[in-house]
Amino acid sequence: MTAPAPTDVHPAWLPPEAFRAIGSRHCLVVGAAGLIDTVVAEVERACAEHGGSVRRKAEGPPPSLVLALVPAVGDGGPAELDAALADLETAAGGPLGAEGYALARHGEVTVLLADQPAGLLYGLFHLTRLGETAFGAPYAAQPYRPAMRRRMLDHWDNVDVHPVMGQVERGYAGGSIFWQAGQPRRDRGRVRAYARLLAAVGINAVTVNNVNVHATEARLLTERLDDVAELADEFRPYGIRVHLSVTFAAPVVLAGLPTADPLDDAVRAWWAETTRAVYARIPDFGGYVVKADSEGQPGPFSYGRDHADGANLLADALAPHGGVVHWRAFVYNHRQDWRDRTTDRARAAFDHFAPLDGRFRDNVIVQVKHGPMDFQTREPVSPVITAMPGTRMAVEFQVTQEYTGQQRHVCYLAPWWSEVLRFGWGDDGDTVAGVAAGGGGLVAVSNVGDDPFWTGHPLAQANLYAFGRLAWDPRLRPAELLDEWIELTFHPDTSADPDLLRRTLHEIMDDSWRTYERYTAPLGVGFMVRPGLHYGPDVDGYEYSRWGTYHFADRDGVGVDRSRATGTGFTGQYPRPWSRVYESPETCPDEVLLFFHHVPYEHVLHSGRTVIQHIYDTHFDGVTEVEAACLRWKSLVGLVDAAVHARVTERLDEQLRCAREWRDQINAYFHRKSGVPDAHGRPLH
Ligand code: GCU
Repeated sequence: MTAPAPTDVHPAWLPPEAFRAIGSRHCLVVGAAGLIDTVVAEVERACAEHGGSVRRKAEGPPPSLVLALVPAVGDGGPAELDAALADLETAAGGPLGAEGYALARHGEVTVLLADQPAGLLYGLFHLTRLGETAFGAPYAAQPYRPAMRRRMLDHWDNVDVHPVMGQVERGYAGGSIFWQAGQPRRDRGRVRAYARLLAAVGINAVTVNNVNVHATEARLLTERLDDVAELADEFRPYGIRVHLSVTFAAPVVLAGLPTADPLDDAVRAWWAETTRAVYARIPDFGGYVVKADSEGQPGPFSYGRDHADGANLLADALAPHGGVVHWRAFVYNHRQDWRDRTTDRARAAFDHFAPLDGRFRDNVIVQVKHGPMDFQTREPVSPVITAMPGTRMAVEFQVTQEYTGQQRHVCYLAPWWSEVLRFGWGDDGDTVAGVAAGGGGLVAVSNVGDDPFWTGHPLAQANLYAFGRLAWDPRLRPAELLDEWIELTFHPDTSADPDLLRRTLHEIMDDSWRTYERYTAPLGVGFMVRPGLHYGPDVDGYEYSRWGTYHFADRDGVGVDRSRATGTGFTGQYPRPWSRVYESPETCPDEVLLFFHHVPYEHVLHSGRTVIQHIYDTHFDGVTEVEAACLRWKSLVGLVDAAVHARVTERLDEQLRCAREWRDQINAYFHRKSGVPDAHGRPLH
């Protein structure tokens, strides 16, 4: 059932040692059907490695680990199982559900319970995180259920190599694990191993192609559906459903219809029939992902229709089969005139989507990027998330580090995502996590490729890990997740000094997102990256461009006035208290000040420093922190696998070079604009 793990690829958070506690026990599995086969195969693999045993019948020597489907439990099981079932009744507060599970320990037996097989699978991976702790002192049954029903990764993988974007758009880890130069890859073991890693962090949905759907990719929906079905076969044993990005123009480009108008009967019939054929081939197909009327992709605007008309067309085709459409809200005018100060890209998603609240079908999920711009190092939360109570919404993150160092820089993003998820408004306790949990869940752009370390930078694996864990439970603490990932990936059994290793890795990674922020674009203003590439500094690269990403620096000040009083009015898209907090530079938090306001260089921040001195100080500090990270990593030589050490060293060298470049360009730029010297007399070039 489980394919042998590929030997040429890093085991990430599932090294054999992570299964020692499970694999050295006598295990009893109660239940049959579906994913149970995967659970049994996992336990068998662990036992073969570590000397334990697995059986599926109650008779036999007393087990020390019982994994049981509650509905399958009959008479004759060990007494500890009955005890766990009894305390589950008091603790569970209702059914465990399709994916939930409970863990208990009675006497010398640890018991894992679930209502359905997927729960057992997730519970099994929970045991890898607990290790021997799960087999220590007794504890009463503790239930676990995912906060989000759908926990999804979008792959921006192209089937053909795109002339500009390559095999994987915004991919920094080599080629695609699905596609190679127009064809599906034949080494499916890699996909199965990926599915296993994802299941271990709770991911249950994957999109296998880029949201920008080009000619070849469009055909995955019809004549190349077998390619998708084969991927679905690899993901299915790990409880992951496959979704497909489709082009809104499919009826025209694939079937030669004269229109793709969502209200046209022939168009509706084509989508219904095409979708029926998809489900005939892939019965557990998840649904469609659509980027429409965005950055050149076709959409309903061409026919005078709106996004609700477009999304509902696909929703109606999917509904009979239980599928969903993820309709992205990343819609803005990318042909702006920089001279026109009234157009504000930050406003666009709200302006397009908020008025449509209540018009989307139940199986439409409006997928919103977490910030109003585009996955910058720092942005406020997108107000769209606060504004559509009658719509199911998914919040989209970017695990691939497009704007955060492209997996050449260490940048642990969980602290950032956690801040976003905890962001709240109004009087009813609304939060971003709550909106996602009540609607479409969390989605992220994957950072994985065919690189032997999966993610190019071995430490970037932590972002994939943390995203899955936060989608399961957004209350988890980023620093604890980091330690969890370190413990599994750099398993204590494999190092001569596990404490030093854990501490040092934690020091390098925990604050690395803020370090990255310090040496790049200041105070939430965003971009300042090289156009197109989005790596390295180019302060004015987008300043006079059509993409609508400006900072408006002049000799007097910097920042974008998005106030209602004198600017673009964007602050008015927020509910209380944020509409008021963001409106005034006096109350606006420092970290997003330049996103909301154009202020003089001598403006004093809440921190007590002027804006210009803040820019200088943070850029010097950021580089100093990278220098410290390099030294710390150096001290780990011999304590981590040599190949991992070498790869991270190479990446850190580049990070340091690039951070210095950022520091010098930003500091020189603002010194030349403002004429204000550094209070500490450091060189500004
Ligand atoms: C960014 C990114 C694009 C991507 C787009 C999207 O703009 O640079 O490559 O297509 O986001 O999210 O659709």
